[in-house]
Amino acid sequence: MILIDGKLTSQIIKEEIANSVATIKKKNGKIPHLAAIIVGEDPASKIYVNHKVKACAQVGFNSTLIELPIDITEEQLLDELEILNKDTDIDGFIVQLPLPDHIDEQKVIMAVNPKKDIDGFHPVNIGKMTLELPGILPATPYGILELLERYKIEPSGKHVVVVGRSHIVGRPISILLSQKRETGNATVTLAHSRTKNLKEITLQADILVAAIGKANFITADMVKNDVIIIDVGTNSIPDTSRKSGHRLVGDVDFERVSKKASYITPVPGGVGPMTIAMLLKNTLTAAQKKEA
Ligand code: GUN
Repeated sequence: MILIDGKLTSQIIKEEIANSVATIKKKNGKIPHLAAIIVGEDPASKIYVNHKVKACAQVGFNSTLIELPIDITEEQLLDELEILNKDTDIDGFIVQLPLPDHIDEQKVIMAVNPKKDIDGFHPVNIGKMTLELPGILPATPYGILELLERYKIEPSGKHVVVVGRSHIVGRPISILLSQKRETGNATVTLAHSRTKNLKEITLQADILVAAIGKANFITADMVKNDVIIIDVGTNSIPDTSRKSGHRLVGDVDFERVSKKASYITPVPGGVGPMTIAMLLKNTLTAAQKKEA
C-alpha cells in the first residue's frame, strides 16, 4: 500500500508557488493578494480561514482577513463583496462557507467577480469547467487531480466511483475525471444518499472518491483488493484520549480499508492540505492573468 502524502505534496506545490512569487518580486511585479471573508464565530470555519491566511504568508502572498458579525445583513455582506470586486489590489477572494441561515449562499457566490472567484464556485467557472474551457477549478477537486497526477495514477479507462454529490467536491470531481484530459478519461459513477445497493457499486471501483461527510462510512467489505482510495472526509469524532476531546477522521475506515488498498489518502494529511495549496495556485493564476 502506498500512502498518498497530501501534506508533503502540498508543501512541494507551495514551494513552487513561493518560487514564482520570488520571480515576481525580482521583476518588481505585483505580489498576489488573497482576501478571505468570514461571517460569525464558527470554530471550524475560523480554523480553516486561519490556515488559508497562514498559507498566504508561507508563499509570500499578501492576505486580508475580513471578519464580519453573525448578524450582518445579506445586503451589507454583498456591499463588502462589491468593495473586494472593485479593489484592484485584491487578485482573488473567498467567502468561507457555510453562511448563517438568513443569508442566501447562492446569491453571495453569484455576486463574486468570476475572475476573482478563487474557490471556483461561481456558475461561470463551473460552466467553464464543465465545457473544458480555461477558468478557475474548485480547489478540492483540483487538489485531487494534482495528487493523482503527481503519484502517476492514471484514471484513463478505470471505473471511478464518487460517493457524494456536493457542489464543492463530488459533482465537480465526477465531471473532471470523466473528461478528455490528461488526468481523466475515466468511467465515472456518481453515487449518493439515494443510491440503491451502494456496496454493489463501490465494489466495482478501481478508484473510490469518498466525499459524503460521514465518519468511517466506507468499510473494508465495500471495496475490492488494490482499490485506490481518495478520502475527502473531514469528520470530527469524540476521542477522550485527546486533550481536545476529539479527533479528525475521514469518510473511509482507514485502518481496515488501507489493508486492501493499493493507494490511499490519510485524514488528516491527505486531500485537506491540497485544498489550501490549490487555493494559492488559483490566486497566483488570477494575479498572473490580470498582469498579462
Ligand atoms: N467551506 C468548506 N469548504 C470550503 C471551501 O473550499 N471554500 C469555502 N469558501 N468555504 C468552505
